[in-house]
Amino acid sequence: MSLNTFVIPEIIFGKGSIEQVGDACSRLGAKNVFIVSDAGVATAGWLNIVMQSCKRAGLAFSIYIDSTTNPKDREITAGCRSFLQNECDAIIGVGGGSALDAAKAIAILATNGGDICDYEGIDKIHSPLPPMVMVMTTAGSGSEVSQFSVIVDSFHQKKMTIISKSLVPDIAIVDPNTLTTKDAELTAATGMDVLTHAIESYVSIAATPLTDVQAKNALSLVSRYLRPSVASKNNKEAKEAMAMASLQAGLAFSNAILGATHAISHAIGGKYLLPHGEINTILLPHVMEFNRIASPQRFSELAEIMGIDTRTLTEQQAGNAAIQFVRDLSNDIGTPTCLGDVGITEEMIGTIGISALEDPCMITNPRDMSLDQIKSLLVKAL
Ligand SMILES: [Fe+2]
Repeated sequence: MSLNTFVIPEIIFGKGSIEQVGDACSRLGAKNVFIVSDAGVATAGWLNIVMQSCKRAGLAFSIYIDSTTNPKDREITAGCRSFLQNECDAIIGVGGGSALDAAKAIAILATNGGDICDYEGIDKIHSPLPPMVMVMTTAGSGSEVSQFSVIVDSFHQKKMTIISKSLVPDIAIVDPNTLTTKDAELTAATGMDVLTHAIESYVSIAATPLTDVQAKNALSLVSRYLRPSVASKNNKEAKEAMAMASLQAGLAFSNAILGATHAISHAIGGKYLLPHGEINTILLPHVMEFNRIASPQRFSELAEIMGIDTRTLTEQQAGNAAIQFVRDLSNDIGTPTCLGDVGITEEMIGTIGISALEDPCMITNPRDMSLDQIKSLLVKAL
């Protein structure tokens, strides 16, 4: 086996764990924390709980809630300015992937300076970041444990993927109670992002036994619990299972990286600012069909992990069943199934392929993909 590493933060998982955030920051030596969140999380009441926890721990704090879905480079610049003006010494992110990615990106600029675009790619961060505690409130991005931050480059209209071990938070807090305030549409889209993380990391060329165990458990949980989680805000068992699925899928992809679904999704999402989970849902079955010949055995195993009875199926039939499972799940929970559903037309595909080929997630895709192959995949997905 080749040399590999597995990076992971301290993880506090369980109902009510959000109350621990102040003490978690204190343990890291923080005195004056910078809290990054968004308006939706504030309205749902979770930001207030974080502020109360910080007060109990004797911490001073400043709030930045201007981060938006698909966080933009200018928001990171503004957030960093506020961090420095308030002389903060640690960062808390509270929210879904967008808020947590924004918090991580602000942490980069706080100690490394420059513009966030300077850090696109792999291992561009040179100075240690301030202590980071991430509180996840959607079962989706895995950003609370990952070495990723994805930020929109406004000038080039694309998403930049920043990958560095420095971005692994010090402490991740995953409280399943926070999932009870999400509506069905967001639960469905973010849940399909979890599914995509689990599948792409399992078939990634950088997968290892350490990532496989996380990806398998995540896929098994999301296959069983995403439907009931979308069906009811109050299904506590499903919420807890989806919180764990998101966490484990995050651990898997943070270390095995992702594939063509995310590379193309970042290109589309950066240009047209569409919801990440919805684009992944549309692209995933097409990318699986393209990738399957790279590892028929892995694709057949996916079906088994999803709970499909594969005993009478050939490897190829099992791989097909796994792809059909993704389509059925998407139909059942009402996520979009083609790019036309989210307003993408053939004329808009244009330069998507070029941006996708530049995305670091393409490096670990199990099958090489050319510009023409990306274009024909996108046409199929219309
Ligand atoms: Fe994702």
